Amino acid sequence: MATQGNLDVLILGSGGREHSLLKACLRSPRVAKVRVAPGNGGMALEAECLEVDAANPAAVLALVRQTGSNFVIVGPEVPLAAGVVDALEAAGVPAYGPLAAGARLEASKAFSKDFMVRHKVPTASSETFRQLEPALAYVRRQSVPIVIKASGLAAGKGVVIATTHAEAEAALRDMMQAKIFGASGDEVVIEEFMQGEEASIMLMVCGEEYLMLPPSQDHKRVGEGDTGLNTGGMGAYAPTTVVTPEVERRLREEIIVPTLRGLKADGIDYRGTLYVGIMVTATGPRVVEYNVRFGDPECQVLMPSLETDPVQIMEDIALGRFRSASVKLRPGATIIIVLAAGGYPGEIRKGDVITLPVNLPAGVDIVHGGTKRQADGRVVTAGGRVLGVVAHGATLQEAAQRAYSVVPQVKFEGSHYRRDIGYRQLRRDGVL
Ligand SMILES: Nc1ncnc2c1ncn2[C@@H]1O[C@H](COP(=O)(O)OP(=O)(O)O)[C@@H](O)[C@H]1O
Ligand SMILES: [Mg+2]
Repeated sequence: MATQGNLDVLILGSGGREHSLLKACLRSPRVAKVRVAPGNGGMALEAECLEVDAANPAAVLALVRQTGSNFVIVGPEVPLAAGVVDALEAAGVPAYGPLAAGARLEASKAFSKDFMVRHKVPTASSETFRQLEPALAYVRRQSVPIVIKASGLAAGKGVVIATTHAEAEAALRDMMQAKIFGASGDEVVIEEFMQGEEASIMLMVCGEEYLMLPPSQDHKRVGEGDTGLNTGGMGAYAPTTVVTPEVERRLREEIIVPTLRGLKADGIDYRGTLYVGIMVTATGPRVVEYNVRFGDPECQVLMPSLETDPVQIMEDIALGRFRSASVKLRPGATIIIVLAAGGYPGEIRKGDVITLPVNLPAGVDIVHGGTKRQADGRVVTAGGRVLGVVAHGATLQEAAQRAYSVVPQVKFEGSHYRRDIGYRQLRRDGVL
């Protein structure tokens, strides 16, 4: 049995994802103390925020030595790819998140495609290129639409779905010649376009043992009906029944098991979140990509869906002793509506004062992303996705009604949000 409250936690990150992880820590009986670095305006109201260059493993280790933290939760991919968990583990500090070797599944799309081919994980067929001319020649022989991906980390902006050959060639020149993503475009993956509906599968992995959280879906486009420019995500919900029992069976057998076995076979002791983005196609689920951390905003709807203490799960995984059988999920559905800053996803307004409701109805919570707490104590906008209203309900319809009843009470100049988050599932549920 777990002993009570001896974890002194440091959370790395500053988005809505990390705020929801902070809330999980504040609810956890395992946690005695929690700090965040760098945090945001909402996190500053609930915990001490510290400065650190999270991409620098030595700096993170120095901060942990200074604070005396004995457990680190890494939110974003950049510190994972930089080897922050490697440095902490080498120093005897347990941390939740994969080592750099595992983080390559996200940090290099070329590596992850090669991994999937070697371990027979269904995905779009693809070719990887390091030279522009052969890439151009290849693309001219393919049919459109075709997908062009910068292999390295590009903050969610490195993928172009080209509908014409001219567009595909322009994307290749941008990435490989103009280097618009810097070294992330040194290698480019060109892949087959897959038709279908996407879902996000968040796994909490401890070697070959794993917990599958409820399948979720997000809304990447800024406009209603999934129109307009791409964003980091304007909302999300879980569960989604696009993952039917049959799709789930195939997902586990054809994707998850071969992936975890493949990691082991490659000598990678994977412990942390593995986010499998899938396309549910006519021939079954296929992998779009792997990420090595929770999605944002998916994390904000998944933390409340766990009845078992998420921190206990993360600790058990970090220590390599996790067993999924004891985990309990909460029934019902959870949704998040993201409120974005004026101008987002283009040039954004910053520094607008945010007014929050004094009281929240049961089952509703507010999670901050791009906010900052000023010296005068006021919380102002400081990023594109400012905050999110999260609500749980017996059904998605109930969750959505709860969330949307609170959204208009959150006020800041220029605020905008989508009124149709969850529409695909609400249609499937027959309530829209
Ligand atoms: N092969 C593909 N077929 C169809 N759509 C794709 C394909 N690959 C990516 N996409 C679309 O592009 C989005 C971004 O691609 P992804 O591989 O997830 O890269 P990243 O999240 O790093 O930008 C996906 O969420 C999906 O909507
Ligand atoms: Mg993606």
